[in-house]
Amino acid sequence: TGFFLGIAANKSVDQSSSAPALTVHVLYGSQTGNAEGIANDLAATARTRGILMPVRALDDVPTEELAELSTVIVITSTYGEGEMPDNAELFWSSLESAGHPRLEQLRFAVLSLGDSGYDDFCQAGRLIDLRLEQLGAARLHPRVDCDVDFEEPAEGWISELVARLAAEAPEADALPAPTGAVPVQKPATWTRKRPYESRLVENRVLSGTGSTKEIRHFEFALGDSGIEYAAGDAFGVVPVNDPVLVDRLIAELGLRPDHEIEGLPLVHHLGRKAEIVTPSRELLALVAELFPDSEPGRLLARGQREGLDEWLWGKDTLDIVLSTGMKLGAEEFVALLRPLQPRAYSISSSPLHSPDRIHLTVASVRYGADRPHGGVCSTFLADRLGADEPVGVFLQPNAAFRLPEDGDVPVIMVGPGTGVAPFRGFVQERAAMGATGRNWLFFGDQHRSSDFIYEDELGAWAESGVLTRLDLAFSRDQREKVYVQTRMQESGAELYAWLEEGAHLYVCGDASRMAKDVDAALHRIVAEQRGRGDDDAAEYVSSLKRGKRYLRDVY
Ligand code: 2AM
Repeated sequence: TGFFLGIAANKSVDQSSSAPALTVHVLYGSQTGNAEGIANDLAATARTRGILMPVRALDDVPTEELAELSTVIVITSTYGEGEMPDNAELFWSSLESAGHPRLEQLRFAVLSLGDSGYDDFCQAGRLIDLRLEQLGAARLHPRVDCDVDFEEPAEGWISELVARLAAEAPEADALPAPTGAVPVQKPATWTRKRPYESRLVENRVLSGTGSTKEIRHFEFALGDSGIEYAAGDAFGVVPVNDPVLVDRLIAELGLRPDHEIEGLPLVHHLGRKAEIVTPSRELLALVAELFPDSEPGRLLARGQREGLDEWLWGKDTLDIVLSTGMKLGAEEFVALLRPLQPRAYSISSSPLHSPDRIHLTVASVRYGADRPHGGVCSTFLADRLGADEPVGVFLQPNAAFRLPEDGDVPVIMVGPGTGVAPFRGFVQERAAMGATGRNWLFFGDQHRSSDFIYEDELGAWAESGVLTRLDLAFSRDQREKVYVQTRMQESGAELYAWLEEGAHLYVCGDASRMAKDVDAALHRIVAEQRGRGDDDAAEYVSSLKRGKRYLRDVY
């Protein structure tokens, strides 16, 4: 039999050299790492069937190359208001351009990730899917749009797609199944569905009295989890709803807390399984239908999006129940709610400094005048989670947001408010490594006296020289607003010089305003320093992105 096996092995090798095995390119657009994770899962599954699937970010595929590939699988998330993830932006701007070459040679399939709580659900994947078709490419497999609970649909899509591709390449089955080393290493065994039970071992307020914000420092024990994180990764936390809110909802709806839903008491279901803070679209649809005379009902009937958003601002599901006086059956009510999702935060420590604990830097979300409202997870951590109670956590690797491998390379970090989180980890890491590269941090918030979080640590790093420069922008300490981008602009010549010396530029924090304005400031600085106009500056910034030297962790 040894002889026979030898022939079989030879035969499959011969086959693959004469008729090359099918190569399918997997391209991902990922902001927080979910799409990248799925891309790697797909490649691992495909490999067990003998199909080779190199995995890359969408932006790493130049147009000329795309025009020559035969099969691509696109897996992309959508972020912000229907926008492309950062590592798909360049790909998309080329793909959507009028002069893009036809792609008649190409077959494709798209998996999109999104959140149906937003208007432009899965927009990035939808746009790419449509545009590839317009350019003449053939759809190999139907697109699937995954909501926040993406695991199951993504797995289903992967197995169907791989089965289809394997059927096309029957000789692939003859390839020896890989044994021993698993080709793609799963980054962590703990997942949102199967989280690790950690303990919150540190919980303190960083912001000072008089601040309009409450920013906290949390530390989670990693214990025997085996979690190995990297500076720049995110950490998922499985929250529990506020029991006061749960009880009040049950009372206002006229329900019984022990009424069973799928074997769970209602009070438990609303506490742990359902999103009860942000009102769901389904709930609003019901209001429009059954309570047209209530205040939200009238706004919904008029189709006044803006008026409705304004009314909804600062309101939660209980406010909807109160303003309509609705009384629903437990099953009926629960069916209107979306599943409670874990929340992910940028890790604010480095494993070299803190291997056994993960640090987070989180603003407690509190609002509402008439009664206290709060963000689900930030208030769970701040107010309700005791040090001896278990809390579900999992690592969410962000392989795109990393320090340069070479410790000599300079880094520029822009992180106002809680945006400083990953940079605290970065600086800890560079200090622990004894990295010689220069480090420049832009930090800011409203007031120096109350909002300069981690002042002692940042000050000590500036003192010791670990931080080569620390530029501060406290917006409300003087008459004119001073923002991080104001400071960047003031030091435009130095900033450009650092970039010319190979610096990596990182931005973390608010996506809707800060990151956009910082991006505009960067373009302005480059245009001023180079003196070759706006198009040249845009190309310069694009080349930073292509070189993975302009990275953002924005939300
Ligand atoms: P402001 O609220 O005083 O205008 C963290 O919230 C910090 O970001 C605050 O100092 C806030 O300033 C500032 N900020 C607000 N809008 C900003 C923008 N577009 N760009 C940068 N920083 C901004």
